[in-house]
Amino acid sequence: MIDSSAAQHHPISGCGIGLRAPHVHEIITTHPDIPWLEILADNYLAEGGLILEHIQEIAQRYPIAMHCVGLSIGSAEQPDLDYCKKLKQLAENINACWISDHLCFSSLGGHYSHDLLPFPLNRQTLALCVQRIDQIQQLLGQPILLENISSYMHYAASSMSEIEFICALTDLTDCQLLVDANNLYVNHVNKGLDIDEFITHLPHHRVKEIHLAGFQPMVNFLLDAHNQPVADPVWELYARLLNYCPDTPTLIEWDNDIPTLDVLLAEAKKADSISQHPISDDIETVATASA
Ligand SMILES: [Fe+2]
Repeated sequence: MIDSSAAQHHPISGCGIGLRAPHVHEIITTHPDIPWLEILADNYLAEGGLILEHIQEIAQRYPIAMHCVGLSIGSAEQPDLDYCKKLKQLAENINACWISDHLCFSSLGGHYSHDLLPFPLNRQTLALCVQRIDQIQQLLGQPILLENISSYMHYAASSMSEIEFICALTDLTDCQLLVDANNLYVNHVNKGLDIDEFITHLPHHRVKEIHLAGFQPMVNFLLDAHNQPVADPVWELYARLLNYCPDTPTLIEWDNDIPTLDVLLAEAKKADSISQHPISDDIETVATASA
């Protein structure tokens, strides 16, 4: 079993922001007050991607967490050794706090999806994921954080709820968790995910990071577009989460229609203020907001 202490004791706190290309120059030249940053690691691994020297320079001043989309936890095949090697090397180069990916699959047979694809949640896929996560954590030499995704479908082959699957998976692999509050809310509205069950059964001690993002309301569903400010019901859900997972490092994740840096920093300040003034847990808050 992998030693999980590395992901538990890193000095990272407060609300950071996702580092995006339009802000790199401003951050390097003006050194804004940001407690930490998260990079999309795949952008620095791909040929023709973002410039590694920039992230190394930023890492001199800010703690960096690595987020990626290529580990494809749900794939029923061997992990991509070359990809894992590159991730490990980048993590060492920038002294990354941790590496996170998603509870999904994103590649199969050498083909890569641009989307994070859900897979059926049952004992068979659990066994596959456990084997794959064990291998990946050995290759990376550290526990990974896994994030709950948003999705727009149910599998008939699923026999476990998402939180049942997550609890079993973390117990069996000692991996850690990244809880995306926006994804939880989007799934709650779109397909009836039981937020109360999810939050109360979550293995709270394993939650090392929280994501906050904005969704786009469509005609009859919410699109997890990451192109808006965090919505009020997601802020309320965040406040609830903090009752169970206080002081969890939090990230403003804005991927499309990226605003100016000061807009992101204002969102981060709002998250900090909520975490410093926790409210009591109120299940009705979320139920009312989603009506
Ligand atoms: Fe996220």
